[in-house]
Amino acid sequence: MPEEQRTFIAVKPDGVKRGLVGEIIKRFENKGFKLIGLKMLHVTQEMAERHYGEHEGKPFYPRLLRYIQSGPIVAMVWKGYNVIDGARHMMGKTNPMEAEVGTIRADYALLMEYNVVHGSDSPESAEREIGIYFKPEELCDEYVNMAESVIEDLG
Ligand code: RTP
Ligand code: MG
Repeated sequence: MPEEQRTFIAVKPDGVKRGLVGEIIKRFENKGFKLIGLKMLHVTQEMAERHYGEHEGKPFYPRLLRYIQSGPIVAMVWKGYNVIDGARHMMGKTNPMEAEVGTIRADYALLMEYNVVHGSDSPESAEREIGIYFKPEELCDEYVNMAESVIEDLG
């Protein structure tokens, strides 16, 4: 039985400005993942440093912090089987020019610095990132019992 997980996904400021929010949500919904948290917000300097602290000291870090604060993001929590790797697979590689055709970054982005979407890269990152953007009571975790629905589908 594949593992049910939660992940943090964000449409980054370039994706919001370009009107890609609906397209990105549609792809994850079509796949079968469940949206359990959603908000639009401006990332503060403190949130940006908490989110991307693992990259502190790298040459692109200052630009990354400016980019993620350059406009509102749409922050989301998605739930489902293998959703962490599954969502990253659908997003494609960090560099849109290396991402496979059909992935979000390949289809909607040109540059690594403006790659329209973020997704957590491990269960630990997911829980840490969800905690930066959402309070537990903001998540609607119980509206569907996915374990039961999948067991029923499998017979
Ligand atoms: P993300 O965290 O945003 O989902 O992206 P990722 O896991 O695919 O890539 P990561 O290595 O975590 O890098 C975070 C973001 O930093 C920017 N970046 N620029 N110029 C560069 O060499 C470079 N490397 C990374 C990208 O915006 C990347 O999404
Ligand atoms: Mg990352």
